[in-house]
Amino acid sequence: MDIQPAPFIPPAPKPRTTPPSTLEMIRIVYRNPLELWGEHTYNEPWIWANGVGGHLIVANDPGLIRHVLVDNARNYKMATVRQKILRPILRDGLLTAEGEVWKRSRKAMAPVFTPRHIFGFAQPMLRRTLDFVTRYEDGGTSDIAHDMTLLTYDILAETLFSGEIAGEPGSFANEIDRLFETMGRVDPLDLLRAPDWLPRLTRIRGRKTMAYFRKIVTDTVKMREGKFKRDPGAVPQDFLTLLLKAEGPDGLTRAEVEDNIITFIGAGHETTARALGWTLYCLAESPWERDRVEHEIDQVLAREPDPTKWLGAMPFTRAAFDEALRLYPPAPSINREPIEPEMWKDLYIPKHAAVLVMPWVVHRHRKLWDRPDAFLPERFHPGNREKIDRFQYLPFGAGPRVCIGASFAMQEAIIALAIMLSRFRFDTTAETKPWPVQKLTTQPQGGLPMRVTPR
Ligand code: HEM
Repeated sequence: MDIQPAPFIPPAPKPRTTPPSTLEMIRIVYRNPLELWGEHTYNEPWIWANGVGGHLIVANDPGLIRHVLVDNARNYKMATVRQKILRPILRDGLLTAEGEVWKRSRKAMAPVFTPRHIFGFAQPMLRRTLDFVTRYEDGGTSDIAHDMTLLTYDILAETLFSGEIAGEPGSFANEIDRLFETMGRVDPLDLLRAPDWLPRLTRIRGRKTMAYFRKIVTDTVKMREGKFKRDPGAVPQDFLTLLLKAEGPDGLTRAEVEDNIITFIGAGHETTARALGWTLYCLAESPWERDRVEHEIDQVLAREPDPTKWLGAMPFTRAAFDEALRLYPPAPSINREPIEPEMWKDLYIPKHAAVLVMPWVVHRHRKLWDRPDAFLPERFHPGNREKIDRFQYLPFGAGPRVCIGASFAMQEAIIALAIMLSRFRFDTTAETKPWPVQKLTTQPQGGLPMRVTPR
């Protein structure tokens, strides 16, 4: 008889049993908002609170989530706090654009993300991953969290610009890290809804980096434009070319092309990196699951050389990745603000309330999941995944503002996992003690030091 061992319970803050004081709350929000939530939050359909910065509603009920993100999405704008952090960096990129600008941009960019183009990125994804994993050939210990950021950055740079970036080699990658480290932080003054004229120290430090970074992007776009004019046939079919084609009277402005390049970098590489890192970690702690995934990958790679087919051919690998996205959603909180007050059933949602749809909480909700804290990829095996409500599993959000890069990310993740796991075994060591911390993404504090050995 095949007895399944007890599932791995990956690290996560225990729900609080007593509410924090106001001062403590500010400290936790700054340090790690994942540590803020109490038992109620993981058990109730919604939470209504009068917080430091005004009314706060945590939406857990899938019906309420559907209402906010889909049915009445028109009444909700992006949360002010999030916009204050991200807009100075991303400006009118799709993630931070609102109203008519967002509508026009989303429409103009839809052709960029068609299956044909996503499939077109499969070979560059494969090439970059094959190059990348050569570093593991001699075996040894490496911080997988850091490595995955490098890998997804490599893939994004290749699919965005085909490596044709202006400026010093390497400087772009360094600047990105610095930019999000300095600018992409919640400033305590924002949480307190302090007036805009009060300077935010966290952002002042980032301004110089941003000017430099913007200049690299502007120069890169100009360089490509020159190439377009000189020799249109030689232009690579990457994101930059596709975005430039989306330029025009009903499409994107030049400034929006640049904003969206920065947005893709901001929204598209660290998110996928986090998801890959957590997947490798959870699999290493569940050898039973890892065997199943490795076996599937070996079988598929032996018969199917076309990487565009791998996502559909690897249900167990995909399930492991989906389960890691459930436990560690890279975007842990989706925040909205109602334009007008309204009622949903008997819940009153006042104007300007902060409405939080938190994948982190919804994915671990006691009433929505069986053994919510356990790593159990079988939830997503064919036959089971169909039973999961669309609005209880939201790693990519939902509704009109659902992640536009989701199928890009899924294809990238499966290609990266297939190559990494077919050639190497990833094991945890005594030093692998990650603690999930909410920054812009759900990061493993302490990194993910892992031993990598050729298989
Ligand atoms: C595992 C990887 C990823 C995760 C978990 C993720 C998650 C999300 C989520 C939750 C949203 C919705 C935010 C909201 O409603 O407030 C979103 C939006 C977005 N994502 Fe992703 N994302 C990922 C990868 C990517 C990639 C690879 C790209 C680009 C190449 C990308 C570009 C965007 C953009 C542009 C938006 C804004 C869409 C809009 O508002 O119309 N994402 N993402």
